[in-house]
Amino acid sequence: MADNGILLEVQDLKKHFPITGGLFARQIGAVKAVDGISFNIKRGETMGMVGESGCGKSTAGRAILLLHEPTSGHVIFDGDDLTQLSDSKLRERRPLMQMIFQDPYATLNPRHSVGKIVGEPLVINGMMKSGSQELKDRVAELLELVGMDPGYVRRFPHEFSGGQRQRIGIARALSLNPSFIVCDEPISALDVSIQAQVVNLMQDLQEQLNLTYLFIAHDLSMVKHISHRIMVMYLGKIMEMTDRNMLFDDPLHPYTQSLNSAVPLPNPELEQERRRFILKGDPPSPANPPSGCVFHTRCPLAVEECITVEPEFREARPGHFVACHLADEEGSSKIPEQTILASVMT
Ligand SMILES: Nc1ncnc2c1ncn2[C@@H]1O[C@H](COP(=O)(O)OP(=O)(O)OP(=O)(O)O)[C@@H](O)[C@H]1O
Ligand code: SF4
Ligand SMILES: [Mg+2]
Repeated sequence: MADNGILLEVQDLKKHFPITGGLFARQIGAVKAVDGISFNIKRGETMGMVGESGCGKSTAGRAILLLHEPTSGHVIFDGDDLTQLSDSKLRERRPLMQMIFQDPYATLNPRHSVGKIVGEPLVINGMMKSGSQELKDRVAELLELVGMDPGYVRRFPHEFSGGQRQRIGIARALSLNPSFIVCDEPISALDVSIQAQVVNLMQDLQEQLNLTYLFIAHDLSMVKHISHRIMVMYLGKIMEMTDRNMLFDDPLHPYTQSLNSAVPLPNPELEQERRRFILKGDPPSPANPPSGCVFHTRCPLAVEECITVEPEFREARPGHFVACHLADEEGSSKIPEQTILASVMT
């Protein structure tokens, strides 16, 4: 099979959670947490995924790893459609796909030593024996890889800072030599001063081990430095996806433009002059998403068509995908300056 450089391909993936009610707990609706997303990630690439709380980022990450059974759609990993694999074949593939979580303290067992936490996946998967020299050597190697003193193996999670705990979580995720890692808000809970260190570590590891990342965050500033490409999610759908620079310099979707205007600029003079576009209200419930374009209830540019017709997620320019009826002509989907000013004043 020819290698086109793509490690992961997600095709029209949906994850709907049933809502039950009434006397017989019948299904009376569904939370459309992920509602038809398609994209691919190349080997060695970092794809950023951003969007407000509840837009379906974690559910998407879990459905891709088949930790949530997808409602429909396909996840093709290194040529195999995971949704069609037998349980035994899937078990073989699983070690290659790992997840790093937002709060390492909540996911590291507080009663287990660092050595046990980092080495456990190797023991559970039958690759090394508990207490063996081989396992001790591998754990020491993993701790060194994430910049920690291998002498810490007997210590417990509470003895470490948030940043160090995240390093332990990363070492554990690396133990089985994965090629793909879903990083679910790995820096959101850390102090700003520590965030850059963890991002740098993850970039170094990516180069050293040829890792591919799906890097989830709730705002653009957190994915800006690490991502090669970025997708913006809203109510279980992808609104826009393109390479990092294009997304910041020339966003086509009005939602991306509003998120973008909230990212602080490094230059204090520019930062003082810049206009922010603040969206009013909260996103609607994914149990009852709006008709047509799911963003129409908050979009400053919405026209009649947006209420009834769902925009197709299409390649408006080479490598630049967007779901907006207006993103056809040059500048037609840009939020005008007057609207931004009005939003700032209200
Ligand atoms: N197991 C579940 N059962 C039912 N509904 C769920 C379940 N998990 C998530 N949801 C719902 O699915 C939607 C998407 O949730 P998800 O956790 O994927 O969002 P998120 O983008 O990761 O949010 P956050 O930024 O807060 O982590 C939410 O409405 C959430 O309440
Ligand atoms: S399709 Fe309409 S409502 Fe949706 S983002 Fe574009 S202009 Fe706004
Ligand atoms: Mg989440």
